[in-house]
Amino acid sequence: MKAVRIFEHGDIDVLKYDEYEFPEIGEFDVLVKVKATSVSGWDIKYRKGAWRKLNEGKALLPGRKGFPLPQQLGRESAGEVVQVGNRVSNFEVGDRVLGLVHPENSLCENAIRGLGNLSTELDYPGHTMFGGNAQYISRPEHYFMKLPENVSFRSAAAGAWAYPTAHRIITDRLNVQVGDVVFVSGSSGGMGIATIQWANLKGALIIGTTRNSDKIHELERLGCDKVVNTSAPVNEVVNEINEFTKGRGVDHAIEYTGASNIQEIILKTIRTGGTICPVGGDMSSNPFPVRVIDFTRLELNMVGIRGSRLKDQVAFLWALSLGTIKPIIFKTMPLNAIKEAHELVENGKDVVGKVMLDPWVH
Ligand SMILES: NC(=O)c1ccc[n+]([C@@H]2O[C@H](COP(=O)([O-])OP(=O)(O)OC[C@H]3O[C@@H](n4cnc5c(N)ncnc54)[C@H](OP(=O)(O)O)[C@@H]3O)[C@@H](O)[C@H]2O)c1
Repeated sequence: MKAVRIFEHGDIDVLKYDEYEFPEIGEFDVLVKVKATSVSGWDIKYRKGAWRKLNEGKALLPGRKGFPLPQQLGRESAGEVVQVGNRVSNFEVGDRVLGLVHPENSLCENAIRGLGNLSTELDYPGHTMFGGNAQYISRPEHYFMKLPENVSFRSAAAGAWAYPTAHRIITDRLNVQVGDVVFVSGSSGGMGIATIQWANLKGALIIGTTRNSDKIHELERLGCDKVVNTSAPVNEVVNEINEFTKGRGVDHAIEYTGASNIQEIILKTIRTGGTICPVGGDMSSNPFPVRVIDFTRLELNMVGIRGSRLKDQVAFLWALSLGTIKPIIFKTMPLNAIKEAHELVENGKDVVGKVMLDPWVH
């Protein structure tokens, strides 16, 4: 079968589109013909070895593995079941399925504590086991969920990572309420768009950011009530936000970029009792410049986020089937255009939405 693998870290030339052996199918495994997969920011960082450098090759979470090579990238995938192992009980040939970005190990301590997103002792597709950038994948059955009838492979795979994670941020970590002001930095990215859509469903007012004025109209169309251009001086942006919130400030600030000017804007506009959720830590190694006095002065809250639980992934598929969320696809490319696809995700200036791959067109 055709697939893309990397055997070393580096620039796009390490991406090897080639003919590889067909995946093995164990008795608990499901073999899926991949109909849609994607290139995500994670894939770029994995390819470049950025994650390995960030944590000296060790896993980012105790109990999880590091970053093995060779690797088949692609956290997101959806397709059709073509074969099942003889001890598989939940799937049959012909089922349309989503490959879970965050499978759970229900027996591990974190999952028992209700934190299935922090599951340990299991492998993650495109991270510690082969991902979806291939014509076929084989995984244990608890790595899949059935797609609702009216949900396309492409939209399911396009939203599989960002939407469940953003759902957890909005509904669980921040518990956003009707009328809250939510600041979403890097809002044209995969996470940003998903966050805007969930926050809209919650009845929040959304402030988005971009460094590129050409994206402002599109971000407003996608649901932002106000978009600020963070290339402007910090104080100008702060004034714009204060004007929008009538001096009341921002209830929840979700930070997807790691940019120090955006962190400064947040600390100057967060309201008393507000909450900051810093997410884009891997985009830069800057520490978030918050002082102990800020916690006292503002009774500030800060919350972390790592992935989604199964319930967030179920909520994603349900909302997709209802049509209340809609992953935005920028472009779909053949799997053999993997180098161009990585280039686009890494450096494309006008990209709003996901870059998808089709393993069956050439
Ligand atoms: N913790 C978790 O569970 C979790 C899960 C998924 C993703 N993440 C993280 O969330 C972050 C966002 O992911 P994503 O997929 O949405 O990223 P993305 O698609 O690369 O988008 C981020 C956006 O941020 C803006 N941006 C990028 N670099 C910037 C910089 N230096 N200064 C200011 N703005 C910048 C860009 O928008 P403009 O060009 O319009 O300014 C870009 O569209 C990443 O760090 C990712 O690793 C975390």
